[in-house]
Order: sequence, then structure tokens, then C-alpha cells
Amino acid sequence: MRPRVGFLGTGWIGRHRMEALIAAGAVEAAAFVEPDDDAASATQAAAPGATRMPDVDTLLEAELDGLVIATPSAMHAPQAIAALERGMAVFCQKPLARNAEETGAVIEAARHADRLLAVDFSYRFTRAVEAIAPIVRSGELGHLFGAELVFHNAYGPDKAWFRNRALSGGGCVIDLGIHLVDLLLWMFDFPEVRTVESHLFAHGERLAPSPDAVEDYATVTLRLAGGAFARLDCSWNHHAGCDADIRFAVFGTEGSVAVENVGGSFYDFAAYRRTGTQARTLVDPLDDWGGRAAVAWAHRLARDRSFDRRCEEALAVAEVVDRIYRGE
Ligand SMILES: NC(=O)c1ccc[n+]([C@@H]2O[C@H](COP(=O)([O-])OP(=O)(O)OC[C@H]3O[C@@H](n4cnc5c(N)ncnc54)[C@H](O)[C@@H]3O)[C@@H](O)[C@H]2O)c1
Repeated sequence: MRPRVGFLGTGWIGRHRMEALIAAGAVEAAAFVEPDDDAASATQAAAPGATRMPDVDTLLEAELDGLVIATPSAMHAPQAIAALERGMAVFCQKPLARNAEETGAVIEAARHADRLLAVDFSYRFTRAVEAIAPIVRSGELGHLFGAELVFHNAYGPDKAWFRNRALSGGGCVIDLGIHLVDLLLWMFDFPEVRTVESHLFAHGERLAPSPDAVEDYATVTLRLAGGAFARLDCSWNHHAGCDADIRFAVFGTEGSVAVENVGGSFYDFAAYRRTGTQARTLVDPLDDWGGRAAVAWAHRLARDRSFDRRCEEALAVAEVVDRIYRGE
């Protein structure tokens, strides 16, 4: 049986994920809430069978198996908790919440309701990342001592709410850096993060720890248990010389692996296994990956709607993001 699913927020990413779920035949798109009329018309065109509902409370009254949340980030936690308490499974955009405390509350609600909760850490599902992750975990790179994580976006977000900390939870770190933190912890099997040293900037000016302003540049060093150091740089409106500069490399004594965006693209990623001066290409960059995390959630929901402990990984990620903001 295809799960009957509702959609909360069908702006840019919410509509993309809805279309991917429909194209995969993974859900019945039953209902949606989208206050913006233009976005709602586009949603209705993409999902003619879905009923547009006036507000979240009405949607929560509907007989739904699951809810896909892609509203402004501050709404994620209260909306996810309300849905879980009504017995719906939830697939939520990253960040699951604005900080670790809120993230923990959502996970507790899922555990208490015994319902499936997943977060859209979409880059895990690129073929490029899927190609390097087993190599990192296999031990063939020898002793892992370094990682280089980069996500520069030459544009920055085009919606005002992203630049309001109360609505977004922060700037480029919680928007882009969070994917890099997730990939690092996930590939290294969620090690203890011993130290975090971070420097946040807005318009070139250094921000104090726990800033009210939203950062548009961050440079961070993380020291992991086991001795590896990771350097993480991310930004909005960066002079990158192209649309985006996205890189994820892990260095070991016997070689390295890297994922890099191709030609400044936000969507196309190459993966390499490197030894000395040699680099072997691992995957074809043409890969339609954006909806895969959502489809994986829907397939799991069709089989089993119960709590999946893997959502606790979002808390480990949120704790590191909190430490980056505190500068410790
Ligand atoms: N996983 C990823 O890689 C990825 C990529 C992009 C964005 N995101 C996340 O997705 C979320 C949405 O980002 P976006 O770029 O699509 O933003 P957006 O502004 O385009 O979309 C948000 C939508 O929510 C609607 N909305 C506002 N209040 C609402 C409410 N109470 N109920 C229902 N809908 C409401 C808005 O009208 C808007 O259409 C953000 O949390 C962002 O961080 C994740």
C-alpha cells in the first residue's frame, strides 16, 4: 500500500520533494498546506489529486500516514511534534530544528509515538557520496587524519526568512555547513567530537559567539576522537568565481577520497579515489539524487511506520552545529 501523505510548505524544496515522491510512485499525495497562492497553484498542477487545506490544524485532522515538512526552519519542530503526536510519520527538511534542544524534543516525540522520523540529509544519497563512504569506512585509506569540507554558495538564499535567525536558526552554517557536519559524522560513524573552534563572519566582520546576526561565512576546525582533524568552510554570497564550490575530502595514510561539484554546479558531483598524483574517477556526475532521501523514507513507511533510531543522528549533528555557534 502506498502511504497517504500530506505536505506542509511546498515552496522550492517542498514541491521538488513532492514531485520526486510522486514520480517514484512512492506515495499518494493526499493533501497540502501552502499559504502562498502561486506556490499552491504550482503544487496543485504537480499533484492534481491533492486537496489544498487552509492550515496545519486542518491537515492534522486528515487521515494521513505521513507528513512531509518543508516550511521555514523554525516551524519544523512544532509542526513535526504535532504530527507525530497525532500518529503520523514525518519526513522533515534539514535542519530538523533550530538547535539541539528543539531537535531532541522532536526525536523524543517520535520515540514516544513510535513513529518513523527522518531528516532530509540529501547529500548522503548522491552516487558520489555513496561511492566514497564505504571506502572511508573500509580502512583501505589507512589511518584517517584529515578531512576538508567546503560549501560556498555564490548566491545565498533568495528568501528573506533565511536571514532572520528566529526563523532560520542561523546562517550558512545551519543552512549549508550542516550537510558537511552530517557527512563527516556519518562517514566516521559518529565519533565523539573532542573540540570545535569556529570563526563566524557577517559582511566580512567577525561575529561574537552565539550571535544575533546571521553569519554568511564560517571557518571551523573539528577534532575527532581518534585524532582526525576536519576543516569546514561554508558561506553565502561568496566570491567563488562560479555558482557553488562544494567539496568533501577525507585523507588517510594510504590515500584519499574526494567528492567535488563539477563546473560550479549545485547538482553534479564527481567522486575520486586518489593515491599520490593519481586520481581514479568513481562515478558519473549525472545523477538525479535530490528526492532519494524522501523516497527512502516513503518506502520504509510503506513497510513499517515505527520509530527508527537513525533519526537520533540528527541530534549529534545539531549538537555540533550548536558548538560551532557557541565558538567552543
Ligand atoms: N535538504 C536540502 O538539501 C534542502 C535544500 C533546500 C532547502 N532545504 C530546507 O527546506 C526548507 C524550506 O526551504 P525552501 O528553500 O523551500 O524555502 P521556501 O521559502 O521556498 O519554502 C517554504 C514554504 O513554506 C511556506 N509556508 C510558510 N509558512 C507556512 C505554514 N505555516 N504552513 C505551511 N507552509 C508554510 C511558504 O509559503 C513557502 O512556500 C528550509 O528549512 C530549508 O533549510 C533543505
